[in-house]
Amino acid sequence: MRNSKLMNIILISCFVIAVSFSIYFYIQSKAFQSKITDATSKEQVPTYHFALIGEEMDHDYWRLVGEGAKDMEEKYDVFIEYEGPRRSNPEEQLKLLDIAMKSKVDGIIVQALNDEFLPVINQAVDQGIPVITIDTDAPESKRSTYIGTDNYEAGKLAGEALLKDTNSEATVGIITGSFENAHHQLRVEGFRDVVEQEPGIDIVAIEESNITRVVAEEKTHNMLSDYPDITALYGTSALDGIGMVAAAESLGVEESLYMIAFDVLPANIALLKEERVDVLIGQKPYEMGNRSVELMLDLMNNQEVQEVYHTNASVVRKEDIDD
Ligand code: BGC
Repeated sequence: MRNSKLMNIILISCFVIAVSFSIYFYIQSKAFQSKITDATSKEQVPTYHFALIGEEMDHDYWRLVGEGAKDMEEKYDVFIEYEGPRRSNPEEQLKLLDIAMKSKVDGIIVQALNDEFLPVINQAVDQGIPVITIDTDAPESKRSTYIGTDNYEAGKLAGEALLKDTNSEATVGIITGSFENAHHQLRVEGFRDVVEQEPGIDIVAIEESNITRVVAEEKTHNMLSDYPDITALYGTSALDGIGMVAAAESLGVEESLYMIAFDVLPANIALLKEERVDVLIGQKPYEMGNRSVELMLDLMNNQEVQEVYHTNASVVRKEDIDD
């Protein structure tokens, strides 16, 4: 009798333990399943995957473009794969465009540096991947739209500032990022079209900086040595101003030179504040990144987009920064 009572207690205990384990594992498996569902839900894997390809990752200007685009991931169901060579390298940039196309991303946003980008852009579009150009346009390509500075107008702004500040009397040297790159060509063209109408303006030299501060300094140094009568310098790429100032300083002619540089970035702002550069041409890199993503999403939703979207470019002087 005693034995059978003990047996019953053991059996009941076993039953309770077994039921408890079953409930426990059931709850665990439910939790795991819901984790899997979460991980594969839309919130985890965005619907759209866009590639953004810029000129150089290790650069304040492109950092802002990238930030502008990446910030849109918070707002929309999109993943931005932001890529670019570490330092400016058109061949590598073109290769990244090719890779983006072959990986069949949903859309490509690319700075179209020069004519070599055109056939690859067209190939991507022919394969059904919409392309938006950013910062530098390829208007002859099949891209859907362009977002960025009107580079010709930005060059004109620089020319107008020079005429105003020098009373249309200057001997000018130009440092441009690259002779090959479309946006630098336009910045020089716009500048020339404004200043060359003035008899008191003489452009005596133009050199390229390869988008580096070091080459900008070296080329400016040689230019100022070859043309000691230069009174004004115009740099079309973000690092040209820093190189121009360094060269002028090393030759001891900084005080007497009038200088216009591109981009309102920390190093250039410092030069403007110290009155070592007279004018900066400001662009809107963050806005370019931001809006490029929205435009690409418009394309995904079959909405019409304009041919171009020009972001603001402006003449920035010391007093504007102080304000
Ligand atoms: C240009 C960019 C360029 C950057 C760095 C900017 O002025 O708009 O295209 O990559 O300078 O040189």
